[in-house]
Amino acid sequence: MAKRICKTPIGIFDSGVGGLSVLNELDKLMPVEHYIYYADTKNIPYGDKSQEDIIKFGREILNFFLFKGVQHVIIACNTSSALSYNVLKQEFPSIKIYPLIQSVAKNLAKYNNLAVLATEATVNSGKYASEIKKYNRNAEVNEIPCPGFTEIVENGLYNSPTTLELIDDRFELLGDVDKIVLGCTHYPYLLNTFDKFIDKENFIDPAKIFAKVIFEDIQNENQGVIFDLPKREFYVSDNPDKFKENAKIFYEIKEEVQLV
Ligand code: DGL
Repeated sequence: MAKRICKTPIGIFDSGVGGLSVLNELDKLMPVEHYIYYADTKNIPYGDKSQEDIIKFGREILNFFLFKGVQHVIIACNTSSALSYNVLKQEFPSIKIYPLIQSVAKNLAKYNNLAVLATEATVNSGKYASEIKKYNRNAEVNEIPCPGFTEIVENGLYNSPTTLELIDDRFELLGDVDKIVLGCTHYPYLLNTFDKFIDKENFIDPAKIFAKVIFEDIQNENQGVIFDLPKREFYVSDNPDKFKENAKIFYEIKEEVQLV
C-alpha cells in the first residue's frame, strides 16, 4: 500500500495509443492512482477531422467518464485539447479538465524559437503558437503538419521506406530552431526513428511537463491521506487486440482492454 493523492479515478483519453505517453509519465510521479484510459480507436485519426466531430467525440468520452465517477479528466491528445477544450469545460462544469497544449505552454515559452510537429487539425488551430505567445510575445513558433505520422504508430510501421521518406520530407521544413516539440502524443513512439535524422536530444516531449503540472495541481487539492494499490482500466471504441499490441513498444498493458 502507498499514498494515493486523488480519491476518485482519473480519466485519460486520446484517439489511440498516443495518450499512453502521458500515462507513462504520470506513472512515475503518481503511481498509486486509479487511472481509466479511453482510446477512441473507432474515430482515429482525429488529426484530419472537423472541430465539430472532435467536440462530439470528446463529449461522448466525458459522459463515459462521468458514469465512471471520474472528477478529473486529462486530455492526453493535442488535437482534442486544441479544438474541444473550450467547449467541454463549459459543458462539464463538475469535471476538472486538464488540456495538454494549454497546460504546457508556459514552460515552452522559455524558448524563443520552436518548431512544433503536430496533426493537421492542431496546426490549423494555431493553438501552440497562440498559447506560447501569451507568455512570450517574441517567441517564433513554426507549426508543421505531419499527416500520416499517427497511422505509422497505430500500425507499427516504424522503419518502412515510406515512413522514412515521409519523415525526411517533413523535417526539411524545420529550419533552424532551439527545440522541436512533439506536438502529438503519438510522436514520442517515433523518437528512435526521428533519431536517425536528428539527434533525440533536440526534441521536447510535452508529456513530461504535462504530468508535472497535473501532479502538482492534484497534490494542491490536498484530498487527505489515502493508502491504496495502483489500479488501471483500459477501454477502446474499436479493436482491443490491436490497441494492446501497438501499445507494447511504449507501455505494457497487463489488464484486459475492454470494448465500449
Ligand atoms: N494523439 C493525438 C494528438 O496528440 C491525435 C492523433 C490523431 O488521432 O490524429 O494530437
